[in-house]
Amino acid sequence: MSVNTTEALMEELNNNPIDANSFARPDLSRVSHISWKAFINFDDQIIEATVDLTVDKQNETIDELFLDTTQLSIFDVRNGETNEQLSYELSPSVAVFGSKLTVKLPPKKRSIIRIDYRTSNKASALQWLKPEQTAGKRQPYLFSQCQAIYCRSIIPCQDTPAVKTPYDATVVVPKDVVVLMSAMRVESGSWHQSDKGMTKEYRFEQKIAIPSYLMAIVAGDLVSKRIGPRSHVWSEPEVIDQCAYEFANTEKFITTAENIVGPYVWGIYDLLVLPPSFPFGGMENPCLTFVTPTLLAGDRSLDVVVAHEIAHSWTGNLVTNKNWGNFWLNEGFTRFLEMKIVGRLNGGEPNRQFNAIGGLKALKFEIEAMGEQNNYTKLMIDPRGVDPEDAFSSVPYEKGHTFLFYLEQLLGGPQVFEPFLKSYINHFKYQSIETNDFKEYLENYFKDKTDILSKVEWDLWLHSTGMPPIIPDYDKSLSKMCTELTNKWINANDNNLSEFKLSDISSMNPMQVKEFLSQLLDSEIPLSLTKMHVLTEIYGLKSNKNSEIRSIWIRLGLKSHWKECINETIEFITSQGRMKFVKPIYRALYAWDETKQLAVNTFNANKNQMMSISLNSVAKELNIKL
Ligand code: BES
Ligand code: ZN
Repeated sequence: MSVNTTEALMEELNNNPIDANSFARPDLSRVSHISWKAFINFDDQIIEATVDLTVDKQNETIDELFLDTTQLSIFDVRNGETNEQLSYELSPSVAVFGSKLTVKLPPKKRSIIRIDYRTSNKASALQWLKPEQTAGKRQPYLFSQCQAIYCRSIIPCQDTPAVKTPYDATVVVPKDVVVLMSAMRVESGSWHQSDKGMTKEYRFEQKIAIPSYLMAIVAGDLVSKRIGPRSHVWSEPEVIDQCAYEFANTEKFITTAENIVGPYVWGIYDLLVLPPSFPFGGMENPCLTFVTPTLLAGDRSLDVVVAHEIAHSWTGNLVTNKNWGNFWLNEGFTRFLEMKIVGRLNGGEPNRQFNAIGGLKALKFEIEAMGEQNNYTKLMIDPRGVDPEDAFSSVPYEKGHTFLFYLEQLLGGPQVFEPFLKSYINHFKYQSIETNDFKEYLENYFKDKTDILSKVEWDLWLHSTGMPPIIPDYDKSLSKMCTELTNKWINANDNNLSEFKLSDISSMNPMQVKEFLSQLLDSEIPLSLTKMHVLTEIYGLKSNKNSEIRSIWIRLGLKSHWKECINETIEFITSQGRMKFVKPIYRALYAWDETKQLAVNTFNANKNQMMSISLNSVAKELNIKL
């Protein structure tokens, strides 16, 4: 077979014309269906599985299939129809991309490749919790996070978003554990005495073709509550009522999105509220969005994350980026649609643009931290040799959104651009595309506006580093009072802070309070210790439980080297693992001499509770080699 040195394998990845983060070559042979049978072994924290991959050769000369795997033990590869053994070879592992599994294909054009294997107890996509690490402490818990390139640690597959397949699954678990997947639930079996003890079997079917990064599984002590005609929320029993209250707007978000971009095709839209170590705000797993419990503010003020994940049902899950260099097609479009949904339901265009201002602030902050010249500040990234996790930032989200907002304004506003968006989705649904597909479709759709379109500096937008080339003049009606209060605090004299009252913020919504605090955080000079103390007291910030507000308040305190917030800081970063919160706080703790060692100690004491994705990225902040 091939030369398998790591250099040769890296070279092979870099030359992959489809996706440089995958060994898959769907242009040669393509997986068209996945059928998965798995036993969740909580004792050993592994999954024991068999997968049947339906494989179609793209021409007669092809006799091999290349799959992505990482940390998998492969036991056996067979022809699923004849049961004959097939020869295969597992390459050495290349960085985060894992090992190439090469399978010799049977002569037929279409065959079923059956692979027996098990996962490692360190599988990067999986987080295993012992019963005592859960809210109820009764059952163990397992959840997955496959985006961007972790599916290969659970299933040997063509782990590239260029390939989309339907799937079905049969999952066996200890009898009191409930299983859900990113699919429709089919009937579940009854209890069964087997060599694994008393078990229960669950079945799932995802009839719509999805990319591998949308495969998802959760298993634990889960209950559900109906929150809409096509929606349930799932969580441990302890928080289910809180969850049902918090996410009551779900159906309104879905119908609003449908009005903009067309029918919701996925059947059900359920939400799963995970344990606190879930590393993201939300993940758009089809039929079952995963969300962090840090959204449970008690007042629905953080449910825009749900609007965002719902938006992915079109942008991302129907129209998918072909590889991670085009990630902005997923996230930029989704931010764009999310803001439209939220604006429609609440506060109209001013609120939509207030949301955009917040995003732009996050972008500015992050580009400054990354460096203006950093290649990852480009909208399109050259993915060769790049770990998508390292490239991850708010750039694809906010620069992407800014570009679409700019195009919308340029071409005549929402009345003109929304029908285009619907048409774009309809045209590319069920496909995986690149930026150029979008560009060509746009240019063709607006071919009577070529004079306007010729003004668009595609090259600058797509390929230049730093802030977007044009920054829209967003409606500031909702951020105005935040800016005024920020300036008042900055200009105030330490000896005369009595002019500040709780009423300064009582007419603001929680997102405006967050905006006010972020503007303070943005100011060059840290707040004095006196101001930090008074601000905290007057506005009751120490006891504010809104996670977005809390994270900014902590960062403000650390920036001012304010010792009074250290206990709260440690409590906050050890009680949840959302990277958006945890990473910048660890960075700030590490940057301050007084807390540098504390940051390292806290990390070391808590690393067993963290998911590997968060673990790696926090370790980088602390210059720790794992
Ligand atoms: N798909 C992303 C989360 C993600 C991105 C996971 C890349 C792994 C790799 C999800 O839709 C997302 O963007 N979540 C945001 C929500 C926010 C933008 C409203 C988050 O987690 O904060
Ligand atoms: Zn997203």
